[in-house]
Amino acid sequence: MSKIEIRNFNLYYTSLHVLKNINVNILERKITAIIGPSGCGKSSLLRSINRMNDTIEGVHVSGEINIFGKNIYDIGIDVRILRKNVGMVFQRPNLFPISIYENVAFGLKINRIHSKKNAINEVVEKSLKSVSLWDHVKDKLHKSALSLTLEQQQRLCIARVVAVASNIILLDEPCSSLDPIATQKIEELIIYLSDQYTIVIVTHNMQQAARVSHNTAFMLLGELIEFDKTEKIFTNPSMNETEDYVSGRFG
Ligand SMILES: Nc1ncnc2c1ncn2[C@@H]1O[C@H](COP(=O)(O)OP(=O)(O)OP(=O)(O)O)[C@@H](O)[C@H]1O
Ligand SMILES: [Mg+2]
Repeated sequence: MSKIEIRNFNLYYTSLHVLKNINVNILERKITAIIGPSGCGKSSLLRSINRMNDTIEGVHVSGEINIFGKNIYDIGIDVRILRKNVGMVFQRPNLFPISIYENVAFGLKINRIHSKKNAINEVVEKSLKSVSLWDHVKDKLHKSALSLTLEQQQRLCIARVVAVASNIILLDEPCSSLDPIATQKIEELIIYLSDQYTIVIVTHNMQQAARVSHNTAFMLLGELIEFDKTEKIFTNPSMNETEDYVSGRFG
């Protein structure tokens, strides 16, 4: 079953045509990687899935992105609810300079998911457990989130998304500021979460795409060149451009 259906999708920054007629079905509770050289439109495509591009001046789009059968670009879509359900994690942890606890509780409060302290405490604990951070932080929940290591901060960013019950998680190069050991741990977490979440990850690192994803989309100059099972993309792609890229001939 596909959860995100992207149909004839185009995106322009003013006159720059950045996404060109993208068509792809992203499957539910699978990890989909988006790969391709710098500037090919990976982040633009990812940001289109929760309408993060809306805030950029001069952006216009055409086509559809259907999530659970509903076009998120339709008039009347509540973007706040969309962004709650489709959470985003960025290259660098973007925590608030407040406590570990408040970073997770914040989303629950502004989205009015819970207002009672006990209920909030419960969700904070559950979310921190789901990213394997609870044991480490349970005795210092009220310390600054910025006192954590980068890897822990990135886990906390994921916990924040998990807390508001998102069912889709978008990650834009989430390991690019991490060392190899921290990267491995975040990759394990992403795989673990894919039992429950539909995950789309942009990565520059082809080994990472090969390690974590079920399906891979290869983009080049704003076009989606090929989408297939990850193993096929890396061992026997159908398109010459994909072959050239995954074999390291450019990029
Ligand atoms: N806010 C913006 N305004 C104008 N042009 C933009 C904006 N953001 C991105 N672009 C342009 O759109 C194109 C696609 O950029 P995008 O960031 O989506 O690529 P990317 O594949 O994520 O690249 P990278 O691997 O470097 O992160 C590039 O030509 C970029 O310069
Ligand atoms: Mg990018």
